Amino acid sequence: MQEKINSLRTEIKEKLEKTKTLKDLTELKNIYLSKKGPITELMSHMRELNDEEKKEFGKIMNEFKTDINNSFDSLKNKIEEYELNKKLESEKIDISLPSTKINVGAPNILEKLIEEVEETFISMGYDVVDGPEIEEDKYNFEMLNIPKGHPARDAQDTFYIEGEEILLRSQTSPVQVRTMLKGNGITPIRMICPGKTYRRDDDDATHSHQFMQIEGLVVDKEISLSDLKGTLDVIFKKLFGESTETRFHPSYYQFTEPSVEVDITCHKCKGKGCNICKNSGWITVAGAGIVHPNVLRMSGYDPKVWTGFAFGFGADRLAMEKYDIHDLRAIYNTDLRELKTFDRKEAE
Ligand code: DAH
Repeated sequence: MQEKINSLRTEIKEKLEKTKTLKDLTELKNIYLSKKGPITELMSHMRELNDEEKKEFGKIMNEFKTDINNSFDSLKNKIEEYELNKKLESEKIDISLPSTKINVGAPNILEKLIEEVEETFISMGYDVVDGPEIEEDKYNFEMLNIPKGHPARDAQDTFYIEGEEILLRSQTSPVQVRTMLKGNGITPIRMICPGKTYRRDDDDATHSHQFMQIEGLVVDKEISLSDLKGTLDVIFKKLFGESTETRFHPSYYQFTEPSVEVDITCHKCKGKGCNICKNSGWITVAGAGIVHPNVLRMSGYDPKVWTGFAFGFGADRLAMEKYDIHDLRAIYNTDLRELKTFDRKEAE
């Protein structure tokens, strides 16, 4: 019996030595360790033995089975480790290779500026509203107190889509009218409206047939110029730094009375005077004023009850100031070499 066990042990171990894959190992297991395999067959001899011999034989068989099971287990571990190493080897990353450069995109600087303005106004309780770029003469001019034949229309010559009534808006101010009409003469208004505007200008370093404005309108009770000043102070400090100061100088717009132009201290020389501000220390960045009673009235707000202020920025002009751009076209061109320099300036 001992001989049989020994030869079976040798046979199994020899086969194990030749086994290289998990699949072959499982096949061997099925042959030798199954219920109909040679080990079970050896165990069946137990029946022919007396009690004393059974005890002895049981002990020998147990050792034998443990030995064989251990051999199977340790080979299984070895094969698994080998295959894992092979896989790791094949997936190894050579970190000494130069990396592939990934170009990361960034929002256009104009978009960034508009977002900053929006966030600041939202934090002061304003709504951000939208209006159509294809506009009616009525909203773009008439209801802003600029009747047909008014000379102010000359400076705002634009593109006409249909006859004299449908045009590409020359300013975002018509959104003031549209917002007031929605307010039905009873709802207080706090809104800004950033958007594209159009004029029949030849494109050059400071003009474009299409540009961006940001309109603002507040309609409420007892609104004054000082409310306007305080509000613009906040936004220009946010855009150009805490030391920025704001001042008004008198101006004329048809839809505001009184009208002002808004200057800020030159962010380059901090008000001392330099080539950017033409040595005045100030740069003009917006038009604004107290909403004209005619405009309130035409849009359904009683000027005896309601007052308001309005303002309009050229978003491109602000971006040019903020990022020190000397040619407006750079903002709209898709020349990455140029656009990337603005990102760098922003990071400084
Ligand atoms: N819409 C004017 C323009 O394009 C800018 C402007 C001036 C807007 C005064 C206003 C304002 O709301 O009150 O020249």
